[in-house]
Amino acid sequence: MTALDGVALVTGASRGLGAAIAEVLAAAGHVVAVNYASSADRAEAVVARITAAGGRAAAFRADVTSEPDVQRLVAEVEARLGPVTVLVVNATGAQPTTPVHELGWDDVTPMLDYFVRSPVLLTSAVVPSMTAAGAGRIVHVGSDVVDRAPEGNAAYVAAKSAQLGLARVGARELGPRGITVNTVQPGWVPVERHADVPQADLDRHAATVPVGRTGTPAEVAASVVHLASVEAAYVNGAVLTVNGGSTVA
Ligand SMILES: NC(=O)c1ccc[n+]([C@@H]2O[C@H](COP(=O)([O-])OP(=O)(O)OC[C@H]3O[C@@H](n4cnc5c(N)ncnc54)[C@H](O)[C@@H]3O)[C@@H](O)[C@H]2O)c1
Repeated sequence: MTALDGVALVTGASRGLGAAIAEVLAAAGHVVAVNYASSADRAEAVVARITAAGGRAAAFRADVTSEPDVQRLVAEVEARLGPVTVLVVNATGAQPTTPVHELGWDDVTPMLDYFVRSPVLLTSAVVPSMTAAGAGRIVHVGSDVVDRAPEGNAAYVAAKSAQLGLARVGARELGPRGITVNTVQPGWVPVERHADVPQADLDRHAATVPVGRTGTPAEVAASVVHLASVEAAYVNGAVLTVNGGSTVA
């Protein structure tokens, strides 16, 4: 797998799937910008692991739901590391569950901020460099909830579905510039924020997955690395579901 020239920017990369994606991209030869909102120590630890493994990375603080922060983030990454040619839209805040008939608009807007506002801001900030480079890769981290519609998750599912729409139109519009836009759609992949989930719940979920287990962050990251590669130039507007076959129709 060949890395594009330039920098891979991963949002929300101080922990969870984002940290794994940053590390696996770096191992595949990408220079990586590790974005974080507030956990500088964790982000620097991700950078330290990448550097110790022989890769190149730096950490950048920014709230990716804020327009001024996104513009400053991309300017700082480009000044310090080089043009952004790979964008991984990954950051998320908390995902509270609420029955659909009890949802207030204030429950929905945080989800739209993460999964619509942020990718819109990020896309417009990175497309100029990708266009100048004649190649770019935008990889959205979506979710298989768009196909499963789990109870209590209407705001999250609605926002993730909107993100998918954004990615699909992006693929059509940006393809002529050599920029591909694809979505990796994980199923439930336990990360740090799931530390308190009882083992019985994990086992119950694993029993519903055709491959008989939950996935790992590294397995999600491997799919992102594929879509970010030079070799994936003809994969555009695709959804790569990484959930052990849970949503096979
Ligand atoms: N883990 C799963 O089971 C799973 C399943 C399907 C989809 N996803 C998706 O994968 C992505 C990552 O999820 P995760 O499980 O790793 O979550 P996580 O909570 O472990 O990581 C999210 C990261 O985003 C950062 N962040 C939060 N607000 C931010 C902001 N405003 N600006 C910049 N960074 C910010 C957090 O600090 C954290 O590092 C999300 O888009 C999520 O919807 C996760």
